[in-house]
Formats: sequence, C-alpha cells, structure tokens
Amino acid sequence: NGDEEQSQDYLFKIVMIGDSSVGKSNLLARFARNEFYPNSKATIGVEFQTQKMNIDGKEIKAQIWDTAGQERFKAVTSAYYRGAVGALVVYDISRHQTFDTIGRWLNELKTYSNMNVVTILVGNKTDLKDAREVSTAEGKALAEAQGLFFIETSALDSSNVAAAFQTVVREIY
Ligand code: GTP
Ligand code: MG
Repeated sequence: NGDEEQSQDYLFKIVMIGDSSVGKSNLLARFARNEFYPNSKATIGVEFQTQKMNIDGKEIKAQIWDTAGQERFKAVTSAYYRGAVGALVVYDISRHQTFDTIGRWLNELKTYSNMNVVTILVGNKTDLKDAREVSTAEGKALAEAQGLFFIETSALDSSNVAAAFQTVVREIY
C-alpha cells in the first residue's frame, strides 16, 4: 500500500463475540484502558471503543465492538457485524460449555459478515489454572480445523491481551 498518503488513517472494525461472562468486555477494558472489573455487569446492547495501535510504524485505529453474549441483550445482529474485518471469538477456559458453543458463534459470524474476516479464537481466563476445563491442545485443534488464529489470554493478569488484538489487526493490515 505504498501509494497511500502518509497521513491516511486506517480504521478497522473488529467485533467481539462469545457466550456471556467469558470476559469480552474485560478484554476490551484491559486493552483500551488497562482496566479490569472483578464484578462487571453483563453488556446490554452494543458498546465500542476506538483504540490507536501502532503496527510496523503505521498508526492504525481499531474500532472494537463489544456486544452481549446473552441472547436477550444482543443488538441487531446484521448491524453488529456489518463492515467488520476482524473478529475475536472468545470462550472461558474454565467453563467447557462456553467452548462448545464456539461453532454457533462462528456460524453467526459467517452468516452476517464478510467471508474473509480475520478471526482469532481466544481462550480467556488462563489465570484460573486450577479450574481449567478446556486444554490448550483442544483450543488449538479447533482453531486449526476452522482455519483461525489462536491465543489464550487473561484479562485479569493482562497476559496476551494486547497480542490477541494485535494479531488480528496485523493480519488485516
Ligand atoms: P457479556 O457482556 O454478558 O456477554 O459478558 P462478557 O463476555 O463481556 O464478560 P465480562 O467481561 O463482563 O466478564 C464476566 C466476569 O468474568 C466478570 O466477573 C469478570 O471480572 C470476569 N473475568 C473476565 N476476564 C477474566 C479473566 O481473565 N480472569 C478471571 N479470573 N476473571 C475474568
Ligand atoms: Mg460484556
């Protein structure tokens, strides 16, 4: 893209999906504001944050959308996915049921978004070591089978949070 003007801003829409309580809103809060909420409430509707990122010396703005995992709080699906070029599909490594529904989230993503949306499977809450129900190998295998990037994160202790977003943005860019 060498012909682009230097001053041009890149704005990428990235969506976060996954079951309620897997930590989508806290991953975003940690990434955008370095904050964590031990008792955060379920998201109602849609929220988004615009975050500046520097990738290979270029300034990029990621507009990261976060919605409710709970069906009854979810925003209109097609509007949520419209124009998205990246997606974080999140589960909680301490609750296997949130991993079992990943296929459903991927179907929704495929139905409503662009075919080549860059997608990363995110196993969150790695700090809950003793409560782990989904092994790293299991996560990796699903990601490989579905052609997704894969990472494990903790919004609580910050591990890999920036890397999760950066992996997506770098690939889009
Ligand atoms: P919905 O908005 O309902 O879809 O949920 P969500 O996916 O946005 O989950 P949220 O970020 O609100 O987090 C749910 C709960 O999990 C909160 O009590 C968080 O404090 C907690 N939580 C989020 N991330 C982590 C993490 O990495 N480790 C631990 N131990 N708890 C986390
Ligand atoms: Mg939320």
